[in-house]
Amino acid sequence: MSAALSGRTAFVTGAARGIGRGIALALAAKGAQIIVADRHPEPFRGERYYRLRERWSGDDETLSTAAAIESAGGRAMTITVDVADRSSVDDALETAVAGLGAPDILVNAAGIVNNIATIAEMALERWEHELAVNLTGAFNCIQTITPSMVGRKWGRIVNIASIAAERPGLGQPGYSASKAGLIGLTRSVAQEFGPHGITCNAVMPGLIATPLVRSMPAHLRESIVASTPVSRLGEPEDIGHLAAFLASPEAEFVTAAAIPCDGGISNAPLRGLNR
Ligand code: NAI
Repeated sequence: MSAALSGRTAFVTGAARGIGRGIALALAAKGAQIIVADRHPEPFRGERYYRLRERWSGDDETLSTAAAIESAGGRAMTITVDVADRSSVDDALETAVAGLGAPDILVNAAGIVNNIATIAEMALERWEHELAVNLTGAFNCIQTITPSMVGRKWGRIVNIASIAAERPGLGQPGYSASKAGLIGLTRSVAQEFGPHGITCNAVMPGLIATPLVRSMPAHLRESIVASTPVSRLGEPEDIGHLAAFLASPEAEFVTAAAIPCDGGISNAPLRGLNR
């Protein structure tokens, strides 16, 4: 553990697994206390893709995120929250403040990616649900948590968007719109709260080897790796390191940014050309 974030409390949504978990562990390794805020706070043992597990980064996923942080000497608590439900977010913040104190750092990593449909076939309620989780969920947490940051004149907000905000795959209109909206929200937050010592940035991950991605057909993953300049999928730690920097005091002059963390795939030349 290092001390860069010692004395800070971080509220990390979607932290039970995947990227949110990687961020929670990275912030904890820098000394922050972590509020693990997730709809399903315990590890999803028994899910189909856990049976398909392959390479993982060494993190013991059988421990809940909070238990993993505590076993490494950190401090954490778990809160069940549905970020799309405003009253649930209000209750979660109250519990968090009572448990570990008001958050100095907010990471909005909760998100869903399972609404695959073309615009022609998209059911309105699925579109609305995707935006409610991926975009309104972040808004709910930001609007609820910023007042105490303003009071203390310090805050760091990191929103986990996606490279799909700019380059959607076919069948991802809701996902792409929600992530592009999240980048717009990020810049609005940065503008409004910058004078109060609060920064807000978006991270745009490429394909990260979370359980869902590891369960993709191997040929699909391999073709993505072949198009990626660093020749591998991302790991949750890659996003964790960037989020930990953005949450640090040293990142005070970085705000309103949307930063790809994708091994270069979104800016790579087409394969076979320009060589
Ligand atoms: P995941 O499905 O492994 O984890 C998402 C977590 O969010 C889960 O623990 C889930 O319980 C939680 N969650 C979902 N809906 C929630 C709600 N309404 N309230 C509270 N918690 C909720 O997903 P993964 O892959 O870790 O993705 C995390 C974030 O990163 C998402 O926002 C996703 O869009 C984004 N992302 C992921 C990429 C990837 O390749 N895995 C690439 C680009 C962005």
